[in-house]
Amino acid sequence: MAIRTVSELVKQGFEGIEKEIVECTDCQLHETVTNRVISKGSRNPRVVFVGEAPGKNEDETGIPFCGRAGKNLDGMIDYMGLSGDDYAVINTIKCRPPKNRNPLKSEINACKPFLQAQIELLDPKVIILLGNTAEKAFCDGEKLEWGVPRIVNGKYTLLKIYHPAALIYQRSRIEEQNNLIDSNRHLWE
Ligand code: URA
Repeated sequence: MAIRTVSELVKQGFEGIEKEIVECTDCQLHETVTNRVISKGSRNPRVVFVGEAPGKNEDETGIPFCGRAGKNLDGMIDYMGLSGDDYAVINTIKCRPPKNRNPLKSEINACKPFLQAQIELLDPKVIILLGNTAEKAFCDGEKLEWGVPRIVNGKYTLLKIYHPAALIYQRSRIEEQNNLIDSNRHLWE
């Protein structure tokens, strides 16, 4: 496994990180991946959304959240009142796990320097964790309450809300999600 420090990655800038991700063979997912899925949106965002892992559509295109869950994410972003310059979208891990299984801890850890370097470069005010996998990467086993913000090192605020895919099969959650968003608008407005 390559030894990469976050600060070395940050020094390389967005293009350098992208190249390192494309060339990465640090976990078994590189054997099955089609396209690594790196980011979309602003490079100077107030809000960064962190998903779980690429699915089939993302693996085919290399674009995060470009399938059905992405439609729900777009709806959430509209509801939050954010426009294109305000946000970026990244994933906890950059390669699709076979059959969309949950990412393994070892895969999350292998990808973590990339995630941390992306966050440092994007430097958002608010990091929205879309579900439990993103939380695992940021909170080291500690649990956040859904919709209860936590300020980290006075630098940024973490907020965990439901993953947009969870809203596909549980429509009743949409109202709950909207309530979580409504009670946190002050964080990005
Ligand atoms: N789900 C995710 O967590 N990320 C994507 O990019 C697509 C679906």
